[in-house]
Amino acid sequence: MQNIETKKRSYDVKEWQRGYDSQPQEFSYWIDDIEGQIPADLEGTFFKNGPGLLDINGSSIHHPFDGDGMISSVAFSQGRAYFRNKFVQTAGYLEEKKAGKILYRGVFGTQKPGGWLGNIFDLKIKNIANTHVIYWGGKLLALWEAAEPHRLDPYTLETLGLDYLDGILQPGEAFSAHPRVDGDRLVNFAVKPGLSSTITIYELDKTAALLTKHAHSIPGFAFLHDMAITPNYCIFFQNPVSFNPLPFVLGWRGAGQCLQLNPKEKTKVILIPRNGGEVQVVETEPCFVFHHANAFEVGDKVFVDSICYSSFPSPDADGDFREVDFERLPAGELWRLEVDLRAKTVSHEVIESRCCEFPTLHPNNVGKAYRYMYIGTAHQPTGNAPLQAVLKIDFETGKREIWSAAPRGYAGEPVFVPRPNGVSEDDGWLLLLVYDAAFHRSDVVILDARNLNYGPVARLHLKHHIPYGLHGSFSEQYFGP
Ligand code: FE2
Repeated sequence: MQNIETKKRSYDVKEWQRGYDSQPQEFSYWIDDIEGQIPADLEGTFFKNGPGLLDINGSSIHHPFDGDGMISSVAFSQGRAYFRNKFVQTAGYLEEKKAGKILYRGVFGTQKPGGWLGNIFDLKIKNIANTHVIYWGGKLLALWEAAEPHRLDPYTLETLGLDYLDGILQPGEAFSAHPRVDGDRLVNFAVKPGLSSTITIYELDKTAALLTKHAHSIPGFAFLHDMAITPNYCIFFQNPVSFNPLPFVLGWRGAGQCLQLNPKEKTKVILIPRNGGEVQVVETEPCFVFHHANAFEVGDKVFVDSICYSSFPSPDADGDFREVDFERLPAGELWRLEVDLRAKTVSHEVIESRCCEFPTLHPNNVGKAYRYMYIGTAHQPTGNAPLQAVLKIDFETGKREIWSAAPRGYAGEPVFVPRPNGVSEDDGWLLLLVYDAAFHRSDVVILDARNLNYGPVARLHLKHHIPYGLHGSFSEQYFGP
């Protein structure tokens, strides 16, 4: 029975696990092992962030979200590509490198040696700078949601230090890892969770000067990883989670492991006006959301496209994250929620029940009605599984296209890059890193977003692997040699 089930899978757990091997080495080179051709008009730099170390000197961290941030960059110009990767030199990374052991507890369960006695009452957190990387206002910033950004040199990826955005942030103030780019504005937020939580909204112009900043207190504990925007609102989903800090304080668990979804409570859709006015809250059925794809307004209605889970998708509290049983965890589904601001009601339809995560779209359509979305997905149409494919959804026709790297490839987040002077909404490329278990290396894959069925325009083979990452972005500026 076991064999039959294993055969049916599009992936091999042991192979998938190796994509989470640490990558302690830093590289810089012209990529010369290429299948296909890099489009000559693809000009700019693809930046990607994610955990580079999944162990500290052999001691495994408990969850990839606790891994030290490592930035990869692929600079494209005239049909060539230059690769670089470098660790963000956070204070914690440098201290632990020097000590050769885990010195900090991780939010997602990484513990210092010594059991609970070695961890009790230690509430210090390490700013691991591992979630997102953006180039904005002349600065390359590595982002992590609970602390300040780190600034890096966009050419060399050298860390220049913590960055307070020229005084917009005070030391210790957070700047989330999920900013949204709205034309020439960057909209971001920070959350201070507690018995009541504070959400601060920042809007920056293209030089990274502050346009607006406003803070709002909302009742209850708020775990808000992402937001969606429309021209009038910043939209958050307050998942019905409760936080019991005791196991964290006593050293038994990481703070993130003390979250519990309460299925009897509602999810609150919080709409914060971007230009003043009252915060609106509308309740809907319980679901758990990390990421939103997009949102848009039609009259008094706001539509929000989000990846929803039936419960908090956390692996076993005590187990190794690599030993995850995918089939036992909830799969993300793409929902379109319709928020009626006048009636104060929310309804939803499941747009895509296939396991999916990491949505992207044309940057010009952020906050607006849109036709195309691209998202990481499982190879098989049902059940939870690692992401191995990219799905394109055409909201107008309902048509789907898919490109899959299965059985030995594992896909990361796709990033949509518009073709210069492109004519249609899907005129551009999708860039993503794919872990190729056959060679224990990663590929930079370039897909033509107009037609995923053609397969990659180019597959750039790196000389090594990059552990599965989190988020990335594209700058039209070329930061290669
Ligand atoms: Fe995220």
